[in-house]
Order: sequence, then structure tokens, then C-alpha cells
Amino acid sequence: MAMNGCVDLRSDTLTRPTPAMRAAMAAAEVGDDVFGEDPTVNRLERQAAETMGKAAGLFVPSGTMGNLAAVLAHCGRGDEAIVGDEAHTFYYEAGGMAALGGIQPRTLPNRPDGTLDITAVEAAVRAPNIHFPVTRLICLENTHNRCGGAVLDAAYMRSVRAVADAHGLPVHLDGARIFNAAVALGVPAATLAADADSVTFCLSKGLAAPVGSVLCGTAAFIDAARRARKQLGGGMRQAGVLAAAGLVALDTMVDRLADDHENARRLTEGLAGMRGVTPAPDAGRTNIVVAALDRDDIGVDGLVERMAAEGVRFFGVGGNRFRLVTHWEVSADDVERALAAFRRLLG
Ligand SMILES: Cc1ncc(COP(=O)(O)O)c(C=O)c1O
Repeated sequence: MAMNGCVDLRSDTLTRPTPAMRAAMAAAEVGDDVFGEDPTVNRLERQAAETMGKAAGLFVPSGTMGNLAAVLAHCGRGDEAIVGDEAHTFYYEAGGMAALGGIQPRTLPNRPDGTLDITAVEAAVRAPNIHFPVTRLICLENTHNRCGGAVLDAAYMRSVRAVADAHGLPVHLDGARIFNAAVALGVPAATLAADADSVTFCLSKGLAAPVGSVLCGTAAFIDAARRARKQLGGGMRQAGVLAAAGLVALDTMVDRLADDHENARRLTEGLAGMRGVTPAPDAGRTNIVVAALDRDDIGVDGLVERMAAEGVRFFGVGGNRFRLVTHWEVSADDVERALAAFRRLLG
């Protein structure tokens, strides 16, 4: 199902609400959510928390706000948060934790599989010393966007938990695409969130809801995050019209992510056979394909431009790398159309 006549592989955020979502939005029972009186938001928050195996949830307008509210609830000014150098929280959230929270990100290199080296995490935890900021948080991301949709498994989460426990630190998981990880691994999302104190997941990416993410954690943590959301201007009123779409997303759009993964796998396989194209190690494992282009006759910018003229849209993500994202508005036929266009240009 091409979007506006294009095969649009720029992002899964492009997905538009399904007819069932629009119907649910129109029929949603609403109230003032800042007063805690929107029954549909309350239901979404309960269901989301249950799905993540946490006590409470907080509906937020975006993944960015969910992550920021979490960091603000975990940390104070002058604290330090350990975060990957390719993490969305560090790379793409406009420096929010530093700008708005006075929180210093301590970056560690993300490995190609999206993980942080456990020994490096442990070494980055600050000793008590008046000169040092206080280490207050470890942040992870699953699936890992800039690492090509790489999946962090439960064993890795446990190993980070052990370091966190040794130093009395909480772990925040940016699980914007945690359901993609869960579907790829064949485990419940709660299993992947079990060793995180807090988790944000997005309704408006592969799950196709128009707006919103949910931050989950303990009841006390969510109370603090709710206050942070208010400070950030994210307290919404009759937000049940949005939460209603989120409930449909949770109920109907998770299992079908496997189709997106299959489409990404086929894209990866097709690209791997083209001269000068090298897919990243985890490319196509979930719904993101990152690949490198090494050719004399065309660079990433030229490829993006010429493919757009062929009706296939995607982005470069720095250097010689480009990214394709599959989602429910990209069909198996669209994948064939995209690959045919790549073949015409790259041979
Ligand atoms: C891994 C990850 N975290 C957080 C976000 C932020 O979500 P939003 O665009 O809703 O702020 C994104 C968005 O693409 C993402 O990929």
C-alpha cells in the first residue's frame, strides 16, 4: 500500500491511524486527564503498565517526552546519566536532558549490536568525590535505532541489571520499538523490560497510532514523572481521543510487526547482492535496514535523490550509510518495487 504513490521507507512514524483507530477515537469516552479523569487514558495507562510488567503508566505526547520525563524523575541537576553515543536520547532529543534537566550525559560507545560494553559501564560509574558529578542512571535502547534496529536480549538486560544493582543505580529503557524486539525474539515485551526500572514505548511508530508513547515504572516513579510531564507542558486534557487509538494499537498491531520484519529481511537480502552495498550486521532483523554504500559512481545523497525520483523514499544517516524502515504501509509488493528501483540504479 504505497503512501502518496511512493514507497516511503523514511520511518515507521509515517504510519497513519487505521480505520479501527479512527472509529475508536470518534467513540472514545473522555474527561480531563490532568485531573486524572479521562477513563480512556486511565485504561491505556493500566494496560500499558500490565503489558510491560510494571505497576503504573503515564501517557505522554511523544517518545522524546517519555524519555525526558523519565530522566528528570530519576536524576537531579548536576547528576550524570550513562548513555550510548548512538542513543536516540543522546543523538536526536535536542540535548533535552542537559538543556532542561542540567543532567550530564556520559556517553559510551554503542557497539554495532546496540549494546554497551558491561565493563565500560561499570568503569564509567563515578566514585564518590567532590569533583565528580554523581552517576544516577544507566540508559539503554531496544530496538536500537541508529544500530539498525538491533535487538537487546533479556540476558544482556540482566547483565546490565547486575552492574546497576552493584552501584544502586536505576536503568531506563528507551523501548520506542520494544515490541519489534519482543516479536523478533519471540518473548513478551515484559521479559525485555523486567530488568529496567522504567521503560518508554511508542504507540506512534510501527503500531501506527497517530500520537503518543507510554512511560512505565513503579507507582512512585510515575508520580514523579507525571510532575515532570506537567513541567514540560505535556499535561493533556481530553487525551482519551488519542489514548483510544493507542489501545487499538496495543490490541491489534503488535503481532503483525512480524510482516515488517519479513519485508526488512527481503530488502536486506536484495541489497546484499548489489555491488558496493553492505548491510549492517543486524540489518533486517527487525524493521530497520541500515546499509553502507561504497561506490565511485554514486554516493548516499545521490542515491537518495535518484531513488526519490523513482518513487522510493528513505534517508541517509551519516557518512556512507543509509536507512530503510518498513511499516504497515509498506507491502511485500512495495518491497519488490523498491528493490527493482535499487537494481536499476546500482545493478
Ligand atoms: C529509539 C527512539 N527513541 C525515541 C524516539 C522519540 O520518539 P518521538 O519521535 O515520538 O519523540 C524515537 C523516534 O524515532 C526513537 O527512534
